[in-house]
Amino acid sequence: MLAIVLVGGFGTRLRPLTNHVPKQMLPICGLPMIEWVALQLAKHGVSEMGLALGYRPDAFLNAYPGGTIAGLPYRVAVEPEVLGTAGAIRFALEELDVDETVVALNGDVLTDLDITALVTFHQRQKAEGTIALQSVNDPSRFGVVTTDKNGRVAEFVEKPPKGTEPSNLINAGAYVLEPEIINRIPAGQQVSVEREIFPHMAREGSLYAVDSSTYWLDTGTPEQYIEANLDVMRGLRDFVPELPTNIVDPSAQIEESFLGEGTEVGANARIKGSVLLSGCKISNNAKIKNSVLAEEVQIGDSAEIDGCVIGRGEVIEPGSEFAWIKRPN
Ligand code: GTP
Repeated sequence: MLAIVLVGGFGTRLRPLTNHVPKQMLPICGLPMIEWVALQLAKHGVSEMGLALGYRPDAFLNAYPGGTIAGLPYRVAVEPEVLGTAGAIRFALEELDVDETVVALNGDVLTDLDITALVTFHQRQKAEGTIALQSVNDPSRFGVVTTDKNGRVAEFVEKPPKGTEPSNLINAGAYVLEPEIINRIPAGQQVSVEREIFPHMAREGSLYAVDSSTYWLDTGTPEQYIEANLDVMRGLRDFVPELPTNIVDPSAQIEESFLGEGTEVGANARIKGSVLLSGCKISNNAKIKNSVLAEEVQIGDSAEIDGCVIGRGEVIEPGSEFAWIKRPN
């Protein structure tokens, strides 16, 4: 079975990390996010990925010139313009000449979802589309779903105001779709599967959903990107990538953080709740908390960084202080 993986978004919430690469090429504990996705798909018998590309397609093609990602063969559909999530699905179905049931998923979600069970449920219900659901504490940031006892979607409400959510089950960003869904998606324009296609199918009674709650993380924000890395280190994922080599002064304190390959950390530096991509240099007495540092960032002596995302190659002067005051939602 083919899985269409949506990896064409701009990833604006992760800027400046995504200024140079698409979100799905960012590493999670050293392994690009798209490889985590490929490993999960392969576990469930997916035989090929169709990458729905938009923003910076060359990043994938250059990184995987051999036609496979983590061992899984892939083909690409490169969108000529921004098409949105539904437009991207339609474009990939056409471009890759798909005429059978497919899996479609957001490429920025890390999950242990049982895709086999999702496909089985979809086939048993003879559904046109089936969504995996995930139970979360704050559903208001997502597409919230209710179903009847047969799994038919009764309501699909994208990002309802807090307190008005009809359930705590959200669209997990993984679907099984019949190719006929193409007839619902207008060609050559920006269409959202979450805001337009699924709510319409729900009103019609042609959309199904199944609670698949398991490990699940949408990596779209800096906080979630940090969480994704730390979850691997906490042993919450099956796969453990090779640990990188760093030079860390014995007096430095590293707590709940991932340090990428070739990172150097000086004396008495403190790093907590942070992700440092490869080649960062942290000088003596620097403090870094709840932050993401892209490749080759240099932090000067005694500088303090709290809640920041720092772009590739930036140099933070000694003694500087940067803190992000988080606004309430
Ligand atoms: P933000 O700009 O931070 O909202 O990120 P994003 O652009 O990735 O948008 P969002 O997180 O809502 O996208 C969910 C998934 O759909 C991600 O895997 C995106 O890469 C993907 N996606 C969003 N829009 C498109 C599109 O127009 N084409 C394709 N191929 N994928 C898309």
